[in-house]
Amino acid sequence: MGNVRYPYVFSSINVGNVELPNRIVFPAWQPNYANEDGTVSGKLKDFYTAIADGGCGLVFSGSAVVSSDTRAFERAMRLYAEEHVPGFRQLFFEVEKRGSVPALQLVHYGRQDSSTLTGGELLAPSAIPCPVMSKLDPNYRVREMTHEDIQRVRGDFISAAVRAVEAGAKIVEVHVAHGYLLNEFLSPYTNKRNDEYGGSVERRARLIVEIIEGIKARIGSRAAISVRVSGHEFVEGGLKPDDFKDIIPLFEDAGMDMLNVAAGVYASMERIIPPASLGIAPHIGIASQLKEYASVPVCAVGSILSLETAESFIASGKVDMVAMGRAQVADPELVNKSASGREHEIRRCTRCNECMFWTRNAPEMSCSVNPALKARERVNGRPLASSTLTDPLYEIG
Ligand SMILES: Cc1cc2nc3c(=O)[nH]c(=O)nc-3n(C[C@H](O)[C@H](O)[C@H](O)COP(=O)(O)O)c2cc1C
Repeated sequence: MGNVRYPYVFSSINVGNVELPNRIVFPAWQPNYANEDGTVSGKLKDFYTAIADGGCGLVFSGSAVVSSDTRAFERAMRLYAEEHVPGFRQLFFEVEKRGSVPALQLVHYGRQDSSTLTGGELLAPSAIPCPVMSKLDPNYRVREMTHEDIQRVRGDFISAAVRAVEAGAKIVEVHVAHGYLLNEFLSPYTNKRNDEYGGSVERRARLIVEIIEGIKARIGSRAAISVRVSGHEFVEGGLKPDDFKDIIPLFEDAGMDMLNVAAGVYASMERIIPPASLGIAPHIGIASQLKEYASVPVCAVGSILSLETAESFIASGKVDMVAMGRAQVADPELVNKSASGREHEIRRCTRCNECMFWTRNAPEMSCSVNPALKARERVNGRPLASSTLTDPLYEIG
């Protein structure tokens, strides 16, 4: 029997061959909890399984890096070698055991990385420095990718996706959002190439299309493919929703089964993780516009904090699924509590953005309202309090 209060949220939906039990998604969320060697730690497992326990239908873990030359975060998850697989196998098993669909996002950070961390030049479609990371990283260096680099990175994405599926992921997500490498290829803001990977929309999309096709060819119907895009980059000369009219059919023809619509790049960080000042669901219009161009299910994200809001967007046909990041970090039981009419028990996200650990040089993600994710670190010898928080990335943007 369906849920009386949220019948749309609690109706199943298919992504490719994969049936989701409900329409609430936990979006990829990199908390810097991996072991030093990039394998899945107990803390990571606890983090994602708590959200599966809480009733979320589709849990994206990751992002996990696909290549050894990209890192961005010291404790990023990695999936470029066989030794990374067993941890994900356990994690996916635990998520699935709880009735959620286990999924993984794959990323190459491209120019939005740190040469100090990677120990070398960063890769990008064109040698244009990221205005944010080039200020933050004293060793910042970026270079244009050669054809060999492109071929290698394409292979890395495909191999990592195959590893993820062999480990039990039911959906693999290609990260084409937030200004990372594949977003950089797609966008005229960052891609100034004159070869077959730059110029027209078909050329800027080519690497992504090749990756989707390559993954599909290897995994067949064993798992589905999601693509996460920034439907609006909010930078001068960047991608806008209208551009996706031509892009989405290319991804669908290549084998995309789900479109996950985010927003922003590092230079517009306030759109990646919208602050409270932008209101509730500031990007729902972007996702619903992209849905007009898509035949696959579309997911929205960004300051959607209650199932009531999610229900209204799904019921009105604006989108098919709703991702709730900070809201489920604040209370991983949000879905189950809402389903059983216990909304008053939900610990609400205040959007204090303590979770943006990188903005204050904290070693890992914490949450000011979830006691299980309390900050353990101290800043300048003082215990961390929300009054000590600063958002330098917001300011630079
Ligand atoms: C700590 C943290 C880590 C994140 N990591 C990722 C990531 O690895 N991949 C990704 O696509 N988005 C990532 N995001 C963005 C979220 O998935 C989500 O799109 C964003 O928080 C806005 O949704 P919300 O308002 O529901 O939190 C991260 C956000 C935060 C705060």
